[in-house]
Amino acid sequence: MSAKKYDRELGIRTVGLREWDGHSHYNRYEATPYEALDVLFQSYSLGHHERVVDFGCGRGRVAFYIHRRFQIPVVGIEAHDLTFNEALDNKYTYRLKAKDIPAPIEFKFGLAEHYKVKPVDTCFYFFNPFSSKVFAKVMKNIITSIKQAPRTVDVILFYPLPEYKEVVRKYPFRKINKIRVPGAEDPYDKFIIYRLPEEIAEELKDEASA
Ligand SMILES: C[S@@+](CC[C@H](N)C(=O)[O-])C[C@H]1O[C@@H](n2cnc3c(N)ncnc32)[C@H](O)[C@@H]1O
Repeated sequence: MSAKKYDRELGIRTVGLREWDGHSHYNRYEATPYEALDVLFQSYSLGHHERVVDFGCGRGRVAFYIHRRFQIPVVGIEAHDLTFNEALDNKYTYRLKAKDIPAPIEFKFGLAEHYKVKPVDTCFYFFNPFSSKVFAKVMKNIITSIKQAPRTVDVILFYPLPEYKEVVRKYPFRKINKIRVPGAEDPYDKFIIYRLPEEIAEELKDEASA
């Protein structure tokens, strides 16, 4: 099915690209392909207690997809004003179709590195939104939150560049899955899912308070 057709089913518009003007650390808008999301969620599932944060959510494709498929709360953070407004427009049209899903879907305008990670946030999605320097700041915020409120968290990387993997390796995450997009020629067209289990989070908390 074409991306436009998937979009139509969700009642949203997410196809296309948008470059940033003069921001060396912030990457352009481009949505995760729907086919890739289908493959990811064939082998990875989200439970009702989860809340997903998409850092650099763009027009919200991943947020809407997850919200409709798993009916759980999702949050998208976006720093480009035009793109953020498109996510809000999409939320309006999506909600006309998805009236019956009580879980909230929220978009927040601002920098991902300024988002204060909440104790209810359990799954963090990144499709190469910014430089690894910014990613390191966001990961630090996730770890700070885990130390304050120990819980199991997953980090999902789509298009996992080596410098991103290096940042994740600084923390006691376990790689729990690698999912390739079938037929993709680009070797980075894959997901890596990392998990930090609650018992390790408890240890981090103890170390921090020792
Ligand atoms: C590659 S797109 C991914 C979009 C979406 N997550 C998806 O997978 O469909 C990256 C997005 O991150 C946004 N972005 C870049 N730097 C950001 C930052 N520091 N804070 C928030 N959003 C940012 C860009 O404007 C762009 O929309």
